[in-house]
Amino acid sequence: MSVAVKVSWITLNRNLKLVASQCLARSVSQMATSAPPSQMEEIVKKFKLPKAYEGSRPSVWVEYIQLAMEYKPLNLGQGFPDYPPPEYITDALMQVASDGNLHQYTRGYGHPRLVQAIAKLYSKLIGRELNPQTEVLTTLGAYEALYAAITGHVDVGDEVIIIEPFFDCYEPMVRYAGGIPRFIALKPKSTDGTTLSSSDFVLDKTELESLFNQKTKAIILNTPNNPLGKVFTLEELTLIANLCKKHNVLCISDEVYEWMVYEPNKHIRIATLPGMWDRTITIGSAGKTFSVTGWKLGWAYGPSNLLFNIQMIHQNSVYTGCTPIQEATAIAFEKELGRLESDECYFNSITKELEPKKKYMATFLQETGFKPIVPEGGYFMMADWTPLEANVDLSSESDQYKDYRFTKWMTKNVGLQGIPPTAFYGVEHKPLGENFVRYCFIKCRYVLWGDFRRTSLFYTKEIDPPPYLDKMKFFEGMKMAATEHLIPQGKESKGCNHKQR
Ligand SMILES: Cc1ncc(COP(=O)(O)O)c(C=O)c1O
Repeated sequence: MSVAVKVSWITLNRNLKLVASQCLARSVSQMATSAPPSQMEEIVKKFKLPKAYEGSRPSVWVEYIQLAMEYKPLNLGQGFPDYPPPEYITDALMQVASDGNLHQYTRGYGHPRLVQAIAKLYSKLIGRELNPQTEVLTTLGAYEALYAAITGHVDVGDEVIIIEPFFDCYEPMVRYAGGIPRFIALKPKSTDGTTLSSSDFVLDKTELESLFNQKTKAIILNTPNNPLGKVFTLEELTLIANLCKKHNVLCISDEVYEWMVYEPNKHIRIATLPGMWDRTITIGSAGKTFSVTGWKLGWAYGPSNLLFNIQMIHQNSVYTGCTPIQEATAIAFEKELGRLESDECYFNSITKELEPKKKYMATFLQETGFKPIVPEGGYFMMADWTPLEANVDLSSESDQYKDYRFTKWMTKNVGLQGIPPTAFYGVEHKPLGENFVRYCFIKCRYVLWGDFRRTSLFYTKEIDPPPYLDKMKFFEGMKMAATEHLIPQGKESKGCNHKQR
């Protein structure tokens, strides 16, 4: 090496060291330190949740996801498949990912290709030409559509009717807007313990009528309902629609499970009932429609004056959704639009895929001593767990409601997680949910339950209870259960494949 090169190398090295030591000094001076204890008290006092949000607690989802991460149970809690979505949907996303033009901001009220596709689909379904620019909004999941629909319409002091059991975010969303939730519970027609179907749970007409008054701004409808699986009939929807019209009330219709409806039930969109279009906002979810809950893409459609209100909330909170996800969803919709009537259409095949899983879950719940409520739609099943009360010791759990104690105990001791339904009731009616647990059946792993049943605490006829340790390993090692015959033959028999391509 020449002397000149050697000198410049030494100089460069020295300069680099200087820069490094300056960076270090800067990062030390930027180190985050806590305020002195005397100031901490002031800080905590001043920076609380604002009044509108006071009393907010982590939701059941936050708590139970944490629980699942800690105990690693067979998770039949949250509503999503534990197997891959149909291939054409993930292919669409791959195709979009490799297109360099689809990674920047898109139109705020909805990606043009997607709002076109949504408008085209629902125009067919509701028999009315939808304007994709003014009558459709895409959102960050149905969650955001609900938030924007509620916040965009509910004023301080407005009353909002919520049908119980309800998807748990409705209540805080109404309260944050300054509204007053008025609850009405779906109750079993008969209380003799023979309730078997979600259709047995009904609204009391007189009670419903009594909730409507001058202050009523909206009613939130969810059909098919989560967690019960109830699919509202034409007669029930007509009752709600007539009251909405009589009292000039908005209907926010959460229809995220619109494609999961079991024969002979039919999904009826309340927006299609006479006079309801002008007072209905209908909400959907790509997560539920295409089994891609992680995509968090939703939409709302309705008349332009109502959509304007929710566009304003969306514009000033989120502004625009994720471009590649919207483009991929548009491609998926376009594919389905071309085969709506065929069995291949995912909107038709998903129910067929779920039917045996539903049947399987109902059977094993029954055989293990639960009393299942067979749903007419959706992919959840509520079951009365109290016949098993003698087999469980809930004294180690301290939650106020029994269903929380039961589900937590099950997660920790049996390695099986469900959701406590009291989370889906207002405080006054929570006791109505205490005897139940909600399980999700869009899963393949739960087919192992047949073995679980034979060895579980609840199966009294056979072998000893399993050791509590290594519960998941225990499940994973199992073969298909004796109840395999309940699952139809073919590819779907392991419950892990979408037939749909
Ligand atoms: C009834 C109901 N509405 C809305 C949502 C939210 O849907 P998304 O995941 O699209 O936000 C869910 C999700 O589970 C739901 O069950």
